[in-house]
Amino acid sequence: MRPDVKHVLSVTQFDRQFLLQLFHRADEFAALPPREIAPVARGAIMATLFYEPSTRTRLSFEAAMTRLGGSVISAEYAASTSSAAKGESIEDTARVVAGYADLLVIRHPAAGSVARAAAVTDVPVINAGDGANEHPTQALIDLYTVWRECGRIDGLTVALVGDLRFGRAARSLARLLTQTVGTKIYLVAPPVTRMDPLLVEELRSAGLEVEEADDLVAIAPEVDVLYQTRIQRERFSDPDEYAAACGRYVVDQRLMRALPRHAIVLHPLPRVGEIDPEVDTDPRAAYFRQARNGVPLRMALIEWVLTPHPVTVLSTNGHRHA
Ligand code: ASP
Ligand code: CP
Repeated sequence: MRPDVKHVLSVTQFDRQFLLQLFHRADEFAALPPREIAPVARGAIMATLFYEPSTRTRLSFEAAMTRLGGSVISAEYAASTSSAAKGESIEDTARVVAGYADLLVIRHPAAGSVARAAAVTDVPVINAGDGANEHPTQALIDLYTVWRECGRIDGLTVALVGDLRFGRAARSLARLLTQTVGTKIYLVAPPVTRMDPLLVEELRSAGLEVEEADDLVAIAPEVDVLYQTRIQRERFSDPDEYAAACGRYVVDQRLMRALPRHAIVLHPLPRVGEIDPEVDTDPRAAYFRQARNGVPLRMALIEWVLTPHPVTVLSTNGHRHA
């Protein structure tokens, strides 16, 4: 892997200082009218290779690249319409597409596959979700949303709920929270989707206070950030196991009554029943704002990935940024 190429493969590569700089940059992008955004990606091409379904990740990456003045080429159904269907390896595909584009964004069902692709390319590769392993850019959006909504990333109690075994977004967010101070995490999951004990140990060793809980309503009054997730049906080989995990923890009006008034509810989306739509009008329901934050956060990330040196001028109207 070339040391001068900035891949985004895991949240473990980011430190607190980088995160806060990225969030400030994303805020600036969010505030700028599109016309005033400096086209820092002009002339650059992003290739999106998605071997699994996506709405938010692919479209918000493509929107972000377009807003920055760049162009996009896409294999939207890469598993069936790229030559992967003929048996081509992810390495060969990435090597070839790296000759057509300046940046690759890849989602793939196999854990570790995006890192394998990055190992053979000389352009940046961003992990848009590799199996049940990581979804680093989703976690960046999640923590950015916490920062915007709560005004801080430290001293919060976060409940991670649902599929903590196969849910890559929750796994990445848990790891990213190790960059915060004074954070307590509650892990609330049905028995079949509990978090891997090795990961729990990793979080504790990094200084997080981690507690497993069964009764979501009972812990709700302590929670500042409730992070609900979908049970990842596509990762189960046994449909009965999947069924056993579904419906156990649902965010509904009763749960909202138990949550503090200042709390927020996040979800990486899509949801399929684990948040009652009745909750959507509650001001604490922040999941659609969270999805919207994907564009400015990914703009900031693309800018960082494509820029060899720190950028000093962000907008065309002379707005300067350190
Ligand atoms: N969209 C997220 C992911 O791809 C969460 C989910 O699908 O449930 O990991
Ligand atoms: N949150 C997320 O990754 O959504 P998509 O699966 O729709 O990209």
